[in-house]
Amino acid sequence: MNILGIETSCDETAAAIYGPAGLAAHALHSQIALHAEYGGVVPELASRDHVSRINPLIREVLAQAGLRPSDLDGVAYTAGPGLIGALMVGASVAAGIATAHGLPLIPVHHMEAHLLAPMLEDPRPEFPFLALLVSGGHTLLVDVQGVGRYEILGESLDDAVGEAFDKTAKLLGLPYPGGPHLARLAEGGGASKAWRFPRPMTDRPGLEFSFSGLKTAVLTALPKARNEQDRADLAWAFQEAVTDTLAIKCARALEQTGLEQLVVAGGVGANKRLREKLGELARRQGLRLYFPRHEFCTDNAAMIAYAGWARRSEGRLPHGKLFTTPRWAI
Ligand code: KG4
Ligand code: ZN
Repeated sequence: MNILGIETSCDETAAAIYGPAGLAAHALHSQIALHAEYGGVVPELASRDHVSRINPLIREVLAQAGLRPSDLDGVAYTAGPGLIGALMVGASVAAGIATAHGLPLIPVHHMEAHLLAPMLEDPRPEFPFLALLVSGGHTLLVDVQGVGRYEILGESLDDAVGEAFDKTAKLLGLPYPGGPHLARLAEGGGASKAWRFPRPMTDRPGLEFSFSGLKTAVLTALPKARNEQDRADLAWAFQEAVTDTLAIKCARALEQTGLEQLVVAGGVGANKRLREKLGELARRQGLRLYFPRHEFCTDNAAMIAYAGWARRSEGRLPHGKLFTTPRWAI
């Protein structure tokens, strides 16, 4: 079974094919350069760019996999959550291909695809596992019992963790998207321990998160950062607070559920300090830890093709009618 996956929910245009032997092909175009001068994603520009990029990318993955459209067994596309105009582009292209070749159309939840992304790797986790989903739009701890069987244990009450990284990076004068820039700046910090920020909501029971206060703490501290070293120390203190908080909540969720595997997905999963701290937790507690490779942590279509393939294989298809939705509970 070969499933074409299409991703256009935000600022990456991507296509991929997942087949009987695993991932057969994937290709991506990032719009980062397009949006950089505006300091964030401009929805209308994103939609227009998806329109011009998606068909060549689909042709490219078909060629890479040595397949024709008629060899496909389904077309999976990101139906939400995301920017509505951007989602509509992928959905319309998917519907066109599915209709032309009589294929089933498989709407995929973007966050479900993120949390299944580690299944693209070898070794892959086995169900059940705990997933920490950390992206620009979401911060979730999910008990994953199987494909389509998810229980949300905790989420952010305000900013998503990637959003907190991006907003704090902006305060520090770093370019969009700020997360990786802030992480790079923080690499030169930490020696002075001049700043220490709270680990929000870790002093009480529960698995919820709140990150907006940290951004405010950085804003308050900013006038005292007089040189490049101070800014690096500030970035370090912010990153330590965020990554400690995530590690504390993961440890708590693992203890609460008795799960022994931890899967980390979403763009912030690329953060080195987070990887180090969760690696330490896994060693201490004898857990198995899975991170998808960097390119499958951030938005991509391989995870969409896989999620569609998994849904189709297990017969757990959401209704196959064309739809898009900017907000969608997992
Ligand atoms: O999953 P993703 O590619 O897109 C969605 O939000 O769906 O995640 C993007 C987020 C951005 O907020 C970006 O700044 C953050 O992930 N990010 C990072 C790092 N790499 C990407 N945040 C902290 N450290 C990083 N190394
Ligand atoms: Zn994403």
